[in-house]
Amino acid sequence: MDYVPEKLHSQSATTLTIVAATIGLIITLLTQRLKSTSASVKGNDLVLQNLPPVIPHSVPFLGHAVAFGQDPINFLKTAYDKYGPVFSFTMVGSTFTYLVGSDASALFFNSKNEDLNAEDVYSRLTTPVFGKGVAYDVPNQLFLEQKKIFKTGLNIARFRTHVSLIEDETREYFKAWGHKGERDIFEALSELIILTASRCLHGSEVRDLFTESSKISELYKDLDGGFNQLAWLLPGWLPFPSFLKRDRARLEMEKMFRKVISARRASEPKDDMLQTLIDSTYKNGSHLTDQEIVGMLIGLLMAGQHTSSTTSAWLGFFISRHKHVQEALYEEQKLVCGEAFPPLAYDQLKDMTLLERCIKETLRLRPPLMTVMRMVRSPQTVLGYTIPPGHQICVSPSVNHTLNSTWGESAEEFDPDRFLGVSATTISEKFAYLPFGAGRHRCIGEFFAYVQIKVIWSVLVRTFEFELADGYFPPVNYQTMIHTPTDPVIRYRRRV
Ligand code: HEM
Ligand SMILES: *[C@@H]1O[C@H](CO)[C@@H](O)[C@H](O)[C@H]1NC(C)=O
Ligand SMILES: *[C@@H]1O[C@H](CO)[C@@H](O)[C@H](O)[C@H]1NC(C)=O
Ligand SMILES: *[C@@H]1O[C@H](CO)[C@@H](O)[C@H](O)[C@H]1NC(C)=O
Repeated sequence: MDYVPEKLHSQSATTLTIVAATIGLIITLLTQRLKSTSASVKGNDLVLQNLPPVIPHSVPFLGHAVAFGQDPINFLKTAYDKYGPVFSFTMVGSTFTYLVGSDASALFFNSKNEDLNAEDVYSRLTTPVFGKGVAYDVPNQLFLEQKKIFKTGLNIARFRTHVSLIEDETREYFKAWGHKGERDIFEALSELIILTASRCLHGSEVRDLFTESSKISELYKDLDGGFNQLAWLLPGWLPFPSFLKRDRARLEMEKMFRKVISARRASEPKDDMLQTLIDSTYKNGSHLTDQEIVGMLIGLLMAGQHTSSTTSAWLGFFISRHKHVQEALYEEQKLVCGEAFPPLAYDQLKDMTLLERCIKETLRLRPPLMTVMRMVRSPQTVLGYTIPPGHQICVSPSVNHTLNSTWGESAEEFDPDRFLGVSATTISEKFAYLPFGAGRHRCIGEFFAYVQIKVIWSVLVRTFEFELADGYFPPVNYQTMIHTPTDPVIRYRRRV
């Protein structure tokens, strides 16, 4: 445990204090939940007998929250070794049941949303950020229609134009990095990807807002601050500073976006995502309201930003630790694009097969969403166990991505070549590799994410040589919802 930085301890202590201080409030919720759970299984002893094994704990109410919070992956792997593929434990009054390394994932990903429900677990986090009328605030049938609209907006013709937009933004952004130095690469990539994602997933008007006023960057930060574990664990009506900031920021941002939408409605159509949202209709023929378009724009930005920026940052650290891979990537750029490095073209991206495998391998070892979850609404049977309503059922890509039984003894090693000659479908069919989820809730942003990350790293590999600063490879920061690198400073030198 000596690698755990001080900060982590003090942060968990703070979280602990806050959580403890609000126990009184949540205990009410807990009792209600316990009551409803026991009511639903009463009179059915069979169900009770078949409950999954429970990890015992001695801390009332909080349960395993602290151990889990400090290193969830290790916690889950240890539990898996001890209890097998299905086990339950309590945290802050809720019961979580994990399915690990079993054939149980089929149950998870093939189930109906009425049985294993996403809104019940995600809405409290997303609705205050996106606003009402979209994503987990609406019945899943409607969200599926909204996802279909996103998919129409993310087509190959658009990707072709995205490539040069992203290339230009990346060059421009990294001009400020000078000849050599040590810098926070995660911060840089986060800032850059706000620009590229807003440019590609919204349109030029929203992108320009990020240059014109620093206000919108501040708003984005405040809104984003709403995506934290407190918002996950505590009731939303509590007057926490981060909640208040989030709510103010969303209202402000909504105002700015509404202006952009009205201006666009009144002017010539363009060929971008905003236009798709304005022009599309639901199955019944109605257009999306401005409120819904605002929510979808915010949702797209959030979904496209964090996932890609953490993946890009981790990739940088992996190829700095494995310098030969970085050099091979540089050679690949020359081979695919020509030594003079003319502007990138979409058709070149598919030939960057090593870069593709590096992204894939980064997503294996550091999948941005470490757990996907659902609320059990009707009893579920898996491997002879019955999981009752009220449990939050979880699958952790992070854990499954590093099981020796699937990936061999080198499961924890960064080795992009492990994907050579293995077709993506063979891996995903077994649900062994799930960075983008599966089934009805599957990600619609995979192709865009690959385009974005490939273009950014093509530019970076051509422009800089990276290395670990004094050998420092960041440990995972488990305090953030998406597992980011801790103190992500990297050393770089510009290639002539
Ligand atoms: C490296 C990049 C990304 C990763 C690793 C990722 C991962 C995921 C995962 C694991 C899910 C499934 C969640 C669940 O089952 O609970 C998901 C869903 C989704 N993602 Fe992504 N994502 C990425 C990029 C994006 C981008 C760029 C967009 C938007 C353009 C996006 C939009 C969505 C949407 C709309 C869903 C659907 C959620 C649902 O139906 O419940 N994602 N993503
Ligand atoms: C984990 O991987 C195993 C082995 O490939 C697979 O059978 C199982 O379905 C996966 N489970 C989960 C929960 O992802
Ligand atoms: C069409 O469906 C949308 C989404 O469910 C709804 O908001 C809208 O009111 C419906 N329009 C009509 C004319 O029924
Ligand atoms: C997986 O393999 C690694 C490397 O040999 C080893 O350190 C680790 O203990 C193994 N884990 C399990 C769960 O067998």
